[in-house]
This record gives sequence, C-alpha cells and structure tokens, in this order.
Amino acid sequence: MPQPSPSETASSHSIRLDAVTLVRGSHQVFEGLTLSLQEARIGLVGDNGAGKSSLFRLISGLDQPERGRVVVHGCDTQTDRGQLAKHVGLMFQNPDDQIIFPTVAEELAFSLTARGETRQAARRQARDFLARRGLEAWAGRAVSELSQGQRQQVCLLALQISEPATLLLDEPFASLDLLSQARLAAQLEESDHQILVSTHLLEHVYDFERVLWLEQGKVRADGPGREICEAYAENVRQRAALERGRRDA
Ligand SMILES: Nc1ncnc2c1ncn2[C@@H]1O[C@H](COP(=O)(O)OP(=O)(O)O)[C@@H](O)[C@H]1O
Ligand SMILES: [Mg+2]
Repeated sequence: MPQPSPSETASSHSIRLDAVTLVRGSHQVFEGLTLSLQEARIGLVGDNGAGKSSLFRLISGLDQPERGRVVVHGCDTQTDRGQLAKHVGLMFQNPDDQIIFPTVAEELAFSLTARGETRQAARRQARDFLARRGLEAWAGRAVSELSQGQRQQVCLLALQISEPATLLLDEPFASLDLLSQARLAAQLEESDHQILVSTHLLEHVYDFERVLWLEQGKVRADGPGREICEAYAENVRQRAALERGRRDA
C-alpha cells in the first residue's frame, strides 16, 4: 500500500491548545495560549526561555495546563493519557533526560513494551529495527559509552520504533556534527509523520511550511519558514547591534 504523503498524514491529525495557561515552578510560562497545529512540518524558533520545550512538554502530556485544554489527535492530554503514546512522542533536548535503560536495545524495546508488546517480542523487534538500519552492532552497546550525539540518535530511534503519528524533536541538531545534521535532515524530509522541530539552526526549518517564533511565552510570529526565520534572524541582528552600540558608547 502506498505511504500517505506528509500533507495527507497531517491533514488527518491535529493538535489544539485552547486558552492554555502553564505554570512551571513559580513561573507562568503561557497565559491563555491558543494554537492549532495541523501542518506536516512545523518549526519552533525563539530565544532560550521562550517556551519551546514547555510547548513540547504540554503536547506530550508531560506537563498539564493550569487552565485550558490540550487535545492531540482527539486525545485530551489530561483525561486520555493512556492513549497518548501512540499519537505523540517527544525527543528531549537532553538525551540523558530521556534514556532510562543501560543498553541501546533495551531502550528501544521499552518504547514497544510501553505500547503493549511482550518483553521478548519487543527485544526481537528492537534488534531487527537496528539491523534494518545497519546498526546491529549498537544493540548491546552501553548507552553510557556513546557520545552525546549518538545518545541523541538513540532517542530518535526509540521514538521512531514506536511510530507515533507526531514526533516532537527538541533541538535535535544541537550536538550533531555537520554530517549527522545532514543525515537527520534527510531522514526528517523522508518521514511521513507529522514533525515539530525546535531549533536555533534556522536553516533546518527554513523550508518548513510553518514556523512559530516564540517570545516570552507568546507567539510573536507565525507563518512560512522562510518569512519567519528571516524576521527572527533580523531581530537578533538588531538586538546584537544594539548591545554592541551600548558596549562601545
Ligand atoms: N523546571 C522548570 N521550573 C520552572 N521554570 C522553568 C523550568 N523549566 C523552564 N522554566 C521556565 O519556563 C520558561 C520557558 O522555558 P523553556 O520552555 O525551557 O524555553 P526554551 O525551550 O524556549 O528555551 C523560562 O522562563 C524558564 O525559565
Ligand atoms: Mg528548550
């Protein structure tokens, strides 16, 4: 059966935030945020602390809104938690926040047992999955002996093996060398999942159909990747010039 194109996949899915207020610790990150996210590829850009990771935590059900609702492919993240794993998966900014198990195969197998596979079947599928990607040697490797970039790759594999409809990738390019970035970009391009990516490397979301620029918990701009990336980059240039001017004065 032919695979659906990314836009077909995305049109059958939707993520909605209705008037969401999120508080983390003593800090109110979002206040009354309303968003509808349906496109196949959506980028998130914005300064550190803008709210990119917080938005992903809300969509993946890790954090609950203080007020308002988050609905992912028909599942309310508060009331339908059990269903959420098949709809959405989050790749953390820091792989060490995500990885639980000592070996690569065990970590991948966990994604499957979390979705109801038996341990034995999950282990076998994890090894087959790695072998199909030419990574059979990784199966028994200790996660602690992998580089940061490799651990990030394990996190992505752990998401991909369980095939959630939507992948949330939080700064996935941050610790990758240039070749690994190119490989990941190509992989994302080929994927038929809905993919949301936060990044400071704007070239990776430049061609996305939609990019959100977050600023202090608000959507400062929302539109085609090219337009939003250029506006954000120009804003950063202006702020940097202002700071230089102040230093030189
Ligand atoms: N664990 C936390 N406890 C309290 N506040 C937090 C926590 N993590 C992040 N924040 C705050 O939430 C806001 C958004 O942070 P975050 O979503 O991590 O931004 P980004 O991913 O865009 O850098 C920031 O003001 C940050 O200080
Ligand atoms: Mg972040």
